[in-house]
Amino acid sequence: MSVAAQIDDVSFAHSSVDAPALAHVSLSLPAGGIVALLGPSGAGKTTLLTLLDGRLRDWRGRVSVLGGSLDPDYPPPRALRPDTGFVFQEFALVERSTVLRNVFNGRLGRMSPLRAFLGSPTERDIQVARSALDDCGISDLADRRVDSLSGGQRQRVAIARCLAQEPRLILADEPVSNLDPTRAAEILTLLTEAARARGATVLFSSHQPELARRFAQRIVGMRDGRIAFDVPVSDLSEDAAADLYRDAAQMSGTGLKVVT
Ligand SMILES: Nc1ncnc2c1ncn2[C@@H]1O[C@H](COP(=O)(O)OP(=O)(O)OP(=O)(O)O)[C@@H](O)[C@H]1O
Ligand SMILES: [Mg+2]
Repeated sequence: MSVAAQIDDVSFAHSSVDAPALAHVSLSLPAGGIVALLGPSGAGKTTLLTLLDGRLRDWRGRVSVLGGSLDPDYPPPRALRPDTGFVFQEFALVERSTVLRNVFNGRLGRMSPLRAFLGSPTERDIQVARSALDDCGISDLADRRVDSLSGGQRQRVAIARCLAQEPRLILADEPVSNLDPTRAAEILTLLTEAARARGATVLFSSHQPELARRFAQRIVGMRDGRIAFDVPVSDLSEDAAADLYRDAAQMSGTGLKVVT
């Protein structure tokens, strides 16, 4: 089985914080697989996704992504960066630009520097962007400004921008946390189907075990910067999922069973 990303014994602490955000984390992502990352607030999910995206510095351990080793001191080489796509929790869209322009931004890393500078896409760039819009069901919104869209529509634009990049690894940080349950399932359906159709690997974080079960093949639970479990969906017990959230559930009433 080939592997899209491999993390071996990685530890990391944010400067000025004593507790590590990642503590001896080891994880393997099978190529073409869909893996969900569960865990309460502060567990280290975003930090782990940021690590795999090559944006974290000064960590210890070994990380390889799509066959290349990451260096804790330097960003990945420019040529490799488009192979990893990131869907941000807060979308990170250009609000005053159109949907199409935002989706084209996903192509920039694939364009020659001159084309990117001139904003002059090739036929293929246009075709890839159009098919990403289509797959996300937002072709009719192409000319709308992002600041006129609903949260669910923005989420689709963020995913379309990521798909336009043609990544081989998609990292999605709570891609449905702003959406109602119906929209959340729709968005995860389109994200996972588009990834499958493209043979891309997906790692998405979530606070919702039921969505993780429905859309992922494998579930990784995190707590306090550590991997608490890493199991196929069929092996995830209700107790293991609830145990991750036991303090958080008491505080915020997430509705999960509290294990004492
Ligand atoms: N920029 C930062 N500076 C200092 N500490 C940080 C920073 N970002 C995160 N942390 C700390 O690192 C730990 C892990 O945070 P992280 O954002 O990875 O958690 P998370 O699982 O993504 O949480 P959430 O579900 O709330 O998004 C937490 O203790 C957090 O307070
Ligand atoms: Mg987070």
